[in-house]
Order: sequence, then C-alpha cells, then structure tokens
Amino acid sequence: MKLAIIGGGSTYSPEILGGLTAPDSALGLTELVLQDPRPERLGPVAGFCRRLASKAGASFAVRDTASLDAALDGADFVVVQIRVGGQEGRHADIRTGLDFGLIGQETTGVGGFAKALRSIPEVLEIARRMEQRCPDAWMLNFTNPSGMVTEALLRHGRERVIGLCNVPIEMHMEVAKLLGRPREDVQLDWVGLNHLGWLRKVIVDGDDLLPGLIEKIEQMNASGQALSGPANIPELQYPPGFLRALGMIPSSYVRYFYATDEMLESIQAAPRSRAQEVMEIESELLALYADERQDTLPSQLSKRGGAWYSRLAVDLLGALQSDTPTVHIVNTQSRGTVEGMPDDAVVEVPCRISRAGVEPTVQDPPQESIIGLMRHVKAYERLAVEAAVDRSRDKAYMALVANPLVPGASKARSVLDRLIERGLI
Ligand code: G6P
Repeated sequence: MKLAIIGGGSTYSPEILGGLTAPDSALGLTELVLQDPRPERLGPVAGFCRRLASKAGASFAVRDTASLDAALDGADFVVVQIRVGGQEGRHADIRTGLDFGLIGQETTGVGGFAKALRSIPEVLEIARRMEQRCPDAWMLNFTNPSGMVTEALLRHGRERVIGLCNVPIEMHMEVAKLLGRPREDVQLDWVGLNHLGWLRKVIVDGDDLLPGLIEKIEQMNASGQALSGPANIPELQYPPGFLRALGMIPSSYVRYFYATDEMLESIQAAPRSRAQEVMEIESELLALYADERQDTLPSQLSKRGGAWYSRLAVDLLGALQSDTPTVHIVNTQSRGTVEGMPDDAVVEVPCRISRAGVEPTVQDPPQESIIGLMRHVKAYERLAVEAAVDRSRDKAYMALVANPLVPGASKARSVLDRLIERGLI
C-alpha cells in the first residue's frame, strides 16, 4: 500500500509515523511518500521521519519528492495537508480581520474566507491530478477550511474524499479522560459542520452521560477551569448555566459565534498573532528535526492545535481497508441524514466507514437552538466555495455578506476590496 502525504513538509508529519509503525498496525504500508515544494522544510521533516521509521523497525520505505505527480503515481491513499500561502498568509488573514474590527481566524470569519479562496483551487488541482495518476485512491483532506474544501471537492468531481478534522477526536479523547473510560467505550452523538460542531450525547453502556458531564464542566468553570480544547483557541468560559441551558457541548470553535466580542478582544489583546506564534514553534521544530540525534517527537508539538490528527488519519487508513465498518466523525455530504441541510452539503457527523466507503449515519434533527446557525454558516460556505471555484467577485461579496461574523454590506465591501488588493480574488 502506498501512502502519499501532500504538504508532507508540514512539521506535523512526523506525528503520523507513530501510528504507521505501531506494532499492531495492519495497514500493509509498503511506501510512504512525503511531497512538498519547499526543500527547506521537506529535507529536515523527511530525514526525521526516516529516523523514526528505522528506530521503530518499520518495513516500509520513506521517500520524499517535490513532484506532485511522482507522489501521486500509484498511490492508494493521499493525505492532503497543504497550507497555501504559509503562515505569512495566515498572519495577513488575521490582520485583514483585525483591520476591520472582525475575526480573521484561520478557518472562521474573514480569515477562513481568505484561506478558502487560496486553498480551494489548489486542492481541486490535486484532485484533477489524482484522476490521472491514482484514480481509485482515497483522498483524506485536512486542508483548511476542511469542510469547505471537502464540499468543493465533492461538488466538483472527486467522489473518494473524506474531510478530516482533529476537533471531534480531541473532544472524544477529552471526554473519555473525564469519564475515566477508554475511548472505545464511549460513543458520541455529534452534529454540525466542520469547526461548528456540537456534542449532543455521550453514550456509555447504553446510558447518556452528557447531562452529568455538563454539570461537571459547569462546576469546573465555577472554579476557574475549562474543558481543554485545541491549543490554538483562547480558553474562554461561557457564562454560568449556559451549557446547562444549551444541553450540549459546543466545540471550541463555536465560541467565535457564541462569544464573538470576547474572542475578538482576546485576539486584539494578544501581543502576536497565532500565525507568528506558530512560525516560532515551527522554526524550533525544524531545527530539532534537522538534528541527527533527535529520534523522538519533540515536546513543542503539543503547542500546536492539531492534537490527535495523526491518530485520526491512521484510524481512517485502517477503516477504509476493512470490510467491517467502524464509526468515525468526519466531513461528508449529508445525503438526507441531517434535517434542514441540502443533500450535497458537507456536514460533520458520525459515519460508518469501511472498504465500501463512507456512510453518514442518520441524525436526530438538529435542535432549534443550533439549526439556524448551522444553516447560516452553510449558506456562507456554499457561496464561498462558488466564489473560489468561479473566481467571482460578486459571489465573494455575497459570501461575505452571508457570513454571520461580517455585519452588513458596507463592511463586507471593505473586506472584499482588501482581499482584491491582496490578489486573493
Ligand atoms: C485545530 C484545528 C485545525 C487547525 C489547527 C491549527 O486543531 O482543528 O484545523 O489547523 O488547530 O493549529 P496551529 O497550531 O497551527 O494554530
């Protein structure tokens, strides 16, 4: 089995080696190819991955290449984790938001929109090349904004694609830890869109433990603690009683909508943008990876937001090669399983995954308290996908107007003009 990682020069890549080389791994991997056009990253990352593989006695080869076609040739699985525009682009997106008093986060608000405009055409091009080089391969897409990129792929020709995000698996791990149970014993009822998900039930031995868990989190909040989430999202607490009234646990990203002012203040107050912080973490990581003596994962990785991403990728590689379906929370088209969502809209829900493909499981209808926001964000996302695919400024304008974090046509026009100046549309 050949696995290609596009954007393999990411400092996250070495994490995946742990799962690929686990003693019980039955993935049948023979070749791992890391592809990246930036030699200054690919060199140290690939060298470090080779050291990790050889230390673990891996039976597969680790290769690296700058050529997309060479990486894709004959691949069975393709992980796409590119960051178009790099951290510099991410920083500029954050600034674009802040300059207009808006949230310019990596995937949310005007930052996510700018990133979608940059990323969607590039990932569609990778999909086009896959049609020529490895038409039957599965694409596992981590490229952000993952839900929108996956929707673009599914609506524009690639069927074998799954949109992945570490947020649900991170929540799963965190909840299992709080309950003192292994993750396998805990089933989550989760509904929403990527970076807009809600945990609605926590089933253990047939019982829903969510109400008790919410009480526990309310008490933790009262004593100044919070449920831990991705390292890149400011830890803010909701007002007392909010989670109890909601009856669900929103994923960390939902705070940008439920606590917009506080999140904006926290971004404005930060001495450096998240992109600048990550630049520093990455330069430390790359220096460690380049050191021949380094043969364990550095602790700096825990400062990144993508915790458990590699575990999810490895779980999916196993699931897609098995005849027995297993359930994973991923992004795929709703196909009638989420009431109120268009059939071809990408949603984030538990799916049964096996060699036969991805089957979203039927959900209880989204609660009144969340369906409005889901629809609102989905309308923005669909317009954004169309704007990115058609390179249409009018559609981009309408996408911005439809974004719940952009108040009104005048501000949307100013943001659009800035994105035009930046050459994004
Ligand atoms: C979260 C998100 C990812 C995102 C990451 C950013 O985990 O789910 O989509 O890429 O954070 O982390 P970073 O360390 O780059 O800020």
